[in-house]
Amino acid sequence: MRSTFAEIDIRNLLFNYIGIKRKVGKSKVMAVVKADAYGHGMIECVKAFETLGDKKPAYYAVALLEEAIELRKARITKQPILCFAPLTKAELDEYIRYKVIPTITDFDQLKFIEKHGSAKKFPVHINIDTGMGRVGIKFTQAVELISRLANIRNVVIDGVYTHFATSDEKDKTFAELQLNRFLDILNELKELNINYGSAHAANSGAILDIPESYLDMVRSGISLYGYYPSTETSESIKLKPVMSIVSKVSTASIIKKGDSVSYGRKFIAGEKTKIVSVAVGYADGIRRGLTNRMMGIIRDKKYRQVGNVTMDRIMFDVNDDNIKIGDKIILIGKSKNQETTAMDWCKILNTIPYEITCGIGKRVPRIYKY
Ligand SMILES: Cc1ncc(COP(=O)(O)O)c(C=O)c1O
Repeated sequence: MRSTFAEIDIRNLLFNYIGIKRKVGKSKVMAVVKADAYGHGMIECVKAFETLGDKKPAYYAVALLEEAIELRKARITKQPILCFAPLTKAELDEYIRYKVIPTITDFDQLKFIEKHGSAKKFPVHINIDTGMGRVGIKFTQAVELISRLANIRNVVIDGVYTHFATSDEKDKTFAELQLNRFLDILNELKELNINYGSAHAANSGAILDIPESYLDMVRSGISLYGYYPSTETSESIKLKPVMSIVSKVSTASIIKKGDSVSYGRKFIAGEKTKIVSVAVGYADGIRRGLTNRMMGIIRDKKYRQVGNVTMDRIMFDVNDDNIKIGDKIILIGKSKNQETTAMDWCKILNTIPYEITCGIGKRVPRIYKY
């Protein structure tokens, strides 16, 4: 087996989930497990949630119908699964067959749903665009769409939702505007006596900082996996990173002052030093932008990565320390006194933790710690 692996700490996953659940009180929690649970392994994460009995998430959410089918085939048969992708005509049969809840986003979908004429009612959620500007029926047209949907015999409206564009920013003005647009729609629907099922809006940023947005259900993604969505949110829930990236020192060599390391000679030794290599690279999600800046922990001490990150291998300058081939190196994770996190990589790469964990490649085996 490869010496490099991602260790997924299921205890931390459940710790984060329980903290989120406690914070949102009576609201239900939808666990967002799309993109292979943000790189952590969808099936294993969902199976872990399933052990929680009546405390488990009320819904799971995915981005693609294929992801939902994968869950169903892994015997996640009972829990509702919402798919965020707008429903297409070609996929409707499969949604019904696998009991996956589709997302309705525009008037065209009503025509083929009505024509489909399924004997049994199937549940749908409606995504309302209150300002995200991505998918969803525009908030100005939402009441009309939902009223028409309510009159279609073969569907039941199980939920309505919206998605915040800026809940992870310090300034919540726009998120509040979005929330108010959404609340106005809910009020109109109530006045029209339209049963819209569960209303949900809050993603991790809103779960941390906008309690008024909890409504019937919240949708937590990145917070489940132990990261705050940005450095601007509060840390009102204690979170523990779930993923560690671990490998072993693969080679070691002494280089002289003036010698260089890796493509492009981006590291030139200022003095005689020991360089170790580790068998992991940008093909595994160690982005090239981390060159000369990321840190690795060996024997509870941090060392700087040096020389361009290559496809399958990266190098570290370990000075004249007693580091040996086979020593454990932590690229993301914690040792006794040291820690390096996906957030540290985000600062170097000017990105968000989502991109880091989702970007850890398929060829990095996931090892689950229970
Ligand atoms: C529609 C929708 N809801 C909820 C989430 C979860 O967001 P977060 O990971 O910030 O909690 C996502 C993730 O991108 C999403 O697309």
